[in-house]
Amino acid sequence: MREKQKFQFKELELGVCYYPEHWDKSLWEDDLKRMLQSGIKTIRIAEFAWSKFEPREGEFTFDFFDEFMAVCERIGMKVIFGTPTATPPAWLTLKYPEVLNANKDGVLYRHGGRRHYNYNSPKYREKSCLIVEKIAEHYGKHKSIVGWQIDNELNCEVDVFYSESDTIAFREFLKKKYSTLEALNEAWGTVFWNQTYTGWEEVFVPRTLLQPDCNPHMKLDYIRFVSDSCISFCRLQSEILYRYKKEGDFITTNGMFGSLDNHRMQDECLDVFTYDSYPNFAFGLSENPKENTSLNDRKWSMNLTEVRSVCPHFGIMEQQSGANGWNTHMEAPAPKPGQMMLWAMQSIAHGSDYISFFRWRTCAMGTEIYWHGILDYDNRDNRKLAEVKKIAERVGKLKEMTGAEYKAEVAVLKDYDNAWDSNLDIFHRHVERASQREIFVSAQLNHIPYDYLYLQKETSIEDLLGYSLLIYPHPVIATKEHADLLQMYVENGGTLIFGCRSGYKDSTGKCVMKPMPGEFAGLTGAFVNDFTFIGPGDNEIHMEWNQKVFEIKIFSDIIEQYNSEAKVLGRFADDYYKGAPALIKNKVGKGTVYFLGSTFTREIMEELFTETRIQSPGKDLLELSSSCELAVRDSIGKRWYIVLNYENKSTEIRLLQEMKDIDTGESVTGVLKLEAYETKVFTL
Ligand code: GAL
Repeated sequence: MREKQKFQFKELELGVCYYPEHWDKSLWEDDLKRMLQSGIKTIRIAEFAWSKFEPREGEFTFDFFDEFMAVCERIGMKVIFGTPTATPPAWLTLKYPEVLNANKDGVLYRHGGRRHYNYNSPKYREKSCLIVEKIAEHYGKHKSIVGWQIDNELNCEVDVFYSESDTIAFREFLKKKYSTLEALNEAWGTVFWNQTYTGWEEVFVPRTLLQPDCNPHMKLDYIRFVSDSCISFCRLQSEILYRYKKEGDFITTNGMFGSLDNHRMQDECLDVFTYDSYPNFAFGLSENPKENTSLNDRKWSMNLTEVRSVCPHFGIMEQQSGANGWNTHMEAPAPKPGQMMLWAMQSIAHGSDYISFFRWRTCAMGTEIYWHGILDYDNRDNRKLAEVKKIAERVGKLKEMTGAEYKAEVAVLKDYDNAWDSNLDIFHRHVERASQREIFVSAQLNHIPYDYLYLQKETSIEDLLGYSLLIYPHPVIATKEHADLLQMYVENGGTLIFGCRSGYKDSTGKCVMKPMPGEFAGLTGAFVNDFTFIGPGDNEIHMEWNQKVFEIKIFSDIIEQYNSEAKVLGRFADDYYKGAPALIKNKVGKGTVYFLGSTFTREIMEELFTETRIQSPGKDLLELSSSCELAVRDSIGKRWYIVLNYENKSTEIRLLQEMKDIDTGESVTGVLKLEAYETKVFTL
């Protein structure tokens, strides 16, 4: 079983991100005191401040932060200290341009932004280790420090690296993986279009080609390499921090970004994972929010579910507290009154035990002048600060919930090979994204909480057995290990659902010459005989199941049962495959496997929940309107039901039993009105 975290927050608390280097020193004390008065007990600092510690190469000074830390100590403010490697100093990038990342044509990204370095430059690794060591040595035992943040948002903004150091490191990565060029040529299918390599110096990170990314197997290995490079850069820093930090202080980084095995990074480098939560961006500003079927800011719960899979009791390092945007791009409106509370409660509902807002006061200079904080440029008390105070009071009443488990009976299975393949492969991407969204929407509307469970090397049957239903929507890449693990789960009584396009690739991303779903065919008791995209010119395709008609979207896997025990539940109702099986149920040991020859729509998913007897954990307690999310957190002898109304209008809910309202301490039952964006926490 995977050990998911080495550190847990002891008490649910609030924090904020603060930049002493952005403000006149005369403001520090007043800022910190106002924070404490508002219920903010921790600040995160220093993650972009390299030049304050090393203004010139090899010249180290701590005067600036010593002065600031003395104020923190005097006033009683706890500190999470950031390592400053996301923004190298100007002297460094000028003198050692090899530390810079490059675009595909090798053109370097110059100084002036952030995250423009590469993970593999020996010089950048050396300089990063040195600055981290100096800072850790100096502040490691400081009384006010409670934790350390490595870099800032690893793999954010850019998760592709094309510098010379990356090519050199990529070759080493491949030599270690394949030993010989013959094995590499075989794994990458280089015989296709005459790509065969005869010397390691012919191998590069992806370069500009006439047809972009035309070797998908190479690209899959390249993403694995990027992930490895990022983890090794993070590990360099965490090893130093472990040597200097005080007992009990934690090491984290604020994730969660692409082309990165966040689970491995957490397991190998961190004590606890933190996340930056900006739900306003889930609205997708190019879409019309009124027609948006992805549930807008409620969809952010998908990200939080993902974070919870990395680390069940995580923290939020940056919780949105204002309108967002850079002066050049990305715009999102200010949270309406009540939305800061709603979004903080969304994080807490999903397992966060620390909420730190971004940022105390909006920066008055630079590219983030519109990435608003709690206070505005004028520094006066405002409605957002008043809302933070309310959140602090609320959090005070929820302390007992710290460390409680998020309860889910259902898990959606994922794995990094498939996640990365679905970014590269358009056939895979279409089905994966649609199904993930629709499963989420269906679960939300039916108030069925679920987890993501990543299949990894360490995953064991115990990780799976806690769930009565597993959904593996489109595991295009299948391995024997995963098939064996799932076989064990089902034989032990579990229920498993697969969707279309399962099992036709191996872990190189090459297609296998076996009837689909390949390694999973034993579980499904069925083969795929034929398959097709549902094209733009095609008529609608439907499935008949349970005397109902369901629209089939995007793709059809036309199934044939080969195991006579397997039962056909649904059949296609249109086109040349009318009458062919579309949904199969197979008994395996004590359990059941369903195989749907298509993507999951919310209607099909709802019917599958009924079929597999999955119900809301609140069904005997609460009747909720569809605008509400339900989350349940559980600790020994106690259970919290958290209800979140995402709509900008009031709604009614009904309590079927007497429950205690955490805010008022009173017992309530019957119909209750929730105001716009209001959240409630009940216990039995
Ligand atoms: C976050 C980042 C912060 C800040 C914010 C606004 O993603 O971690 O440092 O830059 O975005 O851009």
